[in-house]
This record gives sequence, C-alpha cells and structure tokens, in this order.
Amino acid sequence: MDGTVALNTARTMTAVVQEGQGSADVLQIRQIPVPQLRDDQLLVRVHAASVNAFDYGLVRAGWLVTVFAKLLGRRVRLQGVRGVDLSGTVEAVGRNVTAFRPGDDVMGVGTGSWAEYASATERGLVSKPTNISYVEAAAVGNAGVTALQAVRDHGKVRAGQRVLVYGAGGGVGTFTVQIAKAFGGHVTAVTSTRNIEVVRSLAPDALLDYTRDDITKRPERYDVVFDVAGTRPLGELLRVLAPGGRVVMVGAAKGGAGSLVARLVAGLIRARVLRQPILICTASFRHEDLAVLKDLIESGKVRPAIDRTFSLAEVREAVRYTMDGQGRAKVVITIA
Ligand SMILES: NC(=O)c1ccc[n+]([C@@H]2O[C@H](COP(=O)([O-])OP(=O)(O)OC[C@H]3O[C@@H](n4cnc5c(N)ncnc54)[C@H](OP(=O)(O)O)[C@@H]3O)[C@@H](O)[C@H]2O)c1
Repeated sequence: MDGTVALNTARTMTAVVQEGQGSADVLQIRQIPVPQLRDDQLLVRVHAASVNAFDYGLVRAGWLVTVFAKLLGRRVRLQGVRGVDLSGTVEAVGRNVTAFRPGDDVMGVGTGSWAEYASATERGLVSKPTNISYVEAAAVGNAGVTALQAVRDHGKVRAGQRVLVYGAGGGVGTFTVQIAKAFGGHVTAVTSTRNIEVVRSLAPDALLDYTRDDITKRPERYDVVFDVAGTRPLGELLRVLAPGGRVVMVGAAKGGAGSLVARLVAGLIRARVLRQPILICTASFRHEDLAVLKDLIESGKVRPAIDRTFSLAEVREAVRYTMDGQGRAKVVITIA
C-alpha cells in the first residue's frame, strides 16, 4: 500500500464537461467528483492540457468521430470530461502502479484532462522532461505521437531524404517538421501566410507559403510528402514525388463528413486498387513512442511549439479559436 493514497470520495474538482455536440457552447464548467482510481491507475493534478483536432472534433461532430473510432476498434466517450493530453504532478497512485509516485512530474495522455484532476495509466505517461515547461509538455501527447508514427513508421524517413510537410503550421505539422529533421530529412515546410513565422522558428531547410508558391509549379521533387492540411488534391501531391517516393496522408479533409469520407476513400482506392504510393496514417497511442519523444525533447531536437494559452474558465474560447480558425502550433489550457 506504500505510495497509495486513499481518496476522499467527497472531494470535488472543476472540470469541463461536454453536454451535447455542435459548438463550443456545449462545454460546461462543472464541479464534479475527483476521479476514483482503479488499482492500475494514477491520479494526476493537471497543470496544463492541450487542445487537439480530436477534442474539437468530438465537440463539433462527436457522432462522426465515434463512428470512425469504432471502425478502428476503439471506444470513445462522447459525453463527459473532455481532454486527453496533459502535463501535471502525480497526486495518488493505485496499488499496482510501480513506475511513478506521488509528487512525480509527468506528461502524456489521460482521461478527461480538461479538469483539475485526471486519471491515467502508467502506459499513458512518462516523466516530464525538465528542459520544457508544463505548458510545452502538455502539447506533446497526441500531436507528437501522430507525427512520430507518420515520420518513422509510414514515411520511413532516412537521413538525406527530401521531405515535404504540407500544412506545417498546426500541432501535428510543427512536430512533423522537427521530427523529420531529427531523422535526418532535408525538410521543406509548406504553410499558410499566417503560420509562416511559427514554422520558420522550427528551422526547416526550406519554407514555402502555399498561398504564394504552388509546389506543383516548382522543380523540386520529394522522397516523402506528408499531407497534414488535407486540402490539396492527392493527384497533385503525387506529382511532386521523386521516383520511389511516397505520400503519407495524415490530416483529415476539411469541409465536413462528406469531404472527409471522400478523401479517405480516394486515398484507399489510389493505394489499394491503383497501387499508387499513398499511405494512410492512423496513429494510435504507444507508450514507447511517448518515451522516444521525451528523448528527442531532452536532446533538444524537438521543442513543442505553442501558439496561445487559455485558462480553464476560457475553454470555450480556446475551442472556438482552434476549431474555427486555421490552427497555429499548439493551443494549451492552463489549469493549476
Ligand atoms: N492520422 C492520424 O492518426 C491523426 C492524428 C491526429 C490528428 N490528425 C489530423 O491531422 C490534422 C492536424 O491535426 P492538428 O491537431 O495538428 O490540428 P491543428 O493544430 O488544428 O492544425 C491543422 C492545420 O491544418 C492546416 N490547414 C490547412 N488548411 C486548413 C483549413 N482550411 N482549416 C484548418 N486548418 C487548415 C493548418 O496549417 P497550415 O497553416 O500550415 O496550412 C492548420 O494549422 C487534422 O486534420 C487532424 O484531424 C490525424
């Protein structure tokens, strides 16, 4: 029982609860009980939690996300406390938890992180690197793991390869640029005018503004193209490939359920029927990958790029900001 804290069931916390779907207005700030722990769980006092496309997707069209999750064999709770990524301090541990103790600083993923406390398992967490802040650490979980799996497992980026990241300005994009560089790629980042400066700060080898430069009209060809924006016809992305190159589909198409399904089906047909070099990246969380990200951060090769922070009370504003506009790096909710 050493290190296991019996929780007072009467304790309550402030949390952001999703009650309905459609717009940020369905998010309510509530006082609810602090999560009760199973033996394999930890209770984390959340210091910061990030906003992912997954979170605002659940707010906007939860039914669609739950259908896709089901097709991928995953369960998603639509109503309840929102938020997955977190950084914080371990408050209590279940009796089967051995890797962490109360007082440890952690980062990773948990359940319901837009709250003062969230539950997590050992496999969802690693120790927080000491060279980044809680705000930066909260940005790593989903976007970092997605970018790592896209670069390493789907793109198979090797030293010296020419890499294009199309839609480099958001959460996944900013990690993809840095991780592709860490893997030795010669990285061209393509972004919108509004995101040029944040992407420039990541020091890509080349930087293009897609509102001014059309990649299909330029002479450069690439070994790996990461499509994070999901806005450019797949045929055009294939056109900029060097012989033997590949397109990795990471981002969802914009414009609702119809466009999303249409692009996915187009990708599948091109890949499976027409045998074109397209890979569809569906990332899934792995503890080992979070540990790789921790190493990349500690070695200074990756640093989470943060756009803005919002307080827990401003969570609707944070979701509107990320959901309505064109994201820029990561948006983080600061809690305690
Ligand atoms: N495959 C997977 O397993 C997986 C996992 C996580 C996320 N995702 C998907 O990856 C994409 C990026 O996720 P994220 O968390 O990084 O989201 P985000 O922070 O909101 O970034 C989205 C980025 O897409 C680009 N973009 C281009 N046209 C856009 C438009 N019309 N509206 C909005 N954004 C536009 C923007 O970058 P520029 O300004 O550089 O164009 C924007 O920053 C999303 O589509 C998300 O659903 C996929």
